[in-house]
Amino acid sequence: MDKLEKALQKARIDRERALAEVATATVLPLEAPPAAPPPEPERTATQPLSPAELERHRVVVRPGRGETVDLFRMLRTKVMQQMQGAGLRTLAITSPQYGDGKTTIAINLAMSLALDVKQTVLLVDTDMRKPSVHEFLGMKPECGLDDYLLRDVPIAKCLVKPNIERLVVLPVAHSLQDSSELLGTPKMAKLAAELKTRYPDRIVIYDMPPLLTQDDTLAFLPLVDGVLLVVRDGVSPIADVRACAESLAGRNFLGTILNDSRFSA
Ligand SMILES: Nc1ncnc2c1ncn2[C@@H]1O[C@H](COP(=O)(O)OP(=O)(O)OP(=O)(O)O)[C@@H](O)[C@H]1O
Ligand SMILES: [Mg+2]
Repeated sequence: MDKLEKALQKARIDRERALAEVATATVLPLEAPPAAPPPEPERTATQPLSPAELERHRVVVRPGRGETVDLFRMLRTKVMQQMQGAGLRTLAITSPQYGDGKTTIAINLAMSLALDVKQTVLLVDTDMRKPSVHEFLGMKPECGLDDYLLRDVPIAKCLVKPNIERLVVLPVAHSLQDSSELLGTPKMAKLAAELKTRYPDRIVIYDMPPLLTQDDTLAFLPLVDGVLLVVRDGVSPIADVRACAESLAGRNFLGTILNDSRFSA
């Protein structure tokens, strides 16, 4: 082998070694991916929904009903646009007084997000005095948010999965007459932070107590990314609506829903 041949062979070996090193560097991941936490639904108790209760409580967005009715489709689209656009993950639904339609809207919105746009949703009942999410869905939970806050029952035991893919519910299992401070406690704040960060692709919807009748509703609202105000057409007094608008001004207020409106969209 003459000098030139030897030089060419060495150059070829060097090039192949260099290419092999590049290939190895490219396929090896920089670091092992973090182990994903076990998904909640696997550990979550399942309860079937009651079609009769859904019907009775005007849950119009239901499995097997095809595409959602127009009004909830519009609401869901607007909510998704606002939340995705600003990277929001948690949403509170409140209203001036009792009976304005908060729970009806929270459940229909959660169903629409889970069924129509395949969005994972956690629906949290925070109305300790008048919990009704489980009643609307026809579920009988053994424990809920009240047990977590007052009796240290682990949150995984309090979650219930209705027979709808992508929807998990955190109910209030036992109503409490004297619950005015619970939403404002550090334990509740810690839970809100945990629920927000645990699953990045999940939207958390809080069915809240009214804004004007319970002190701790306003205390809790800064802990969520966005707030929707439900106003009942012909029922909510204008003074109440103004009072709510003043309380929410300059905060994470996303908009108002006119419920039970006499005007068609
Ligand atoms: N758009 C609507 N049309 C007709 N009935 C409605 C409408 N929205 C709500 N309702 C009815 O009004 C009642 C009160 O609604 P809902 O329980 O959703 O209000 P809420 O604000 O959650 O009340 P609370 O403050 O007591 O929790 C329920 O019987 C519900 O079925
Ligand atoms: Mg309600």
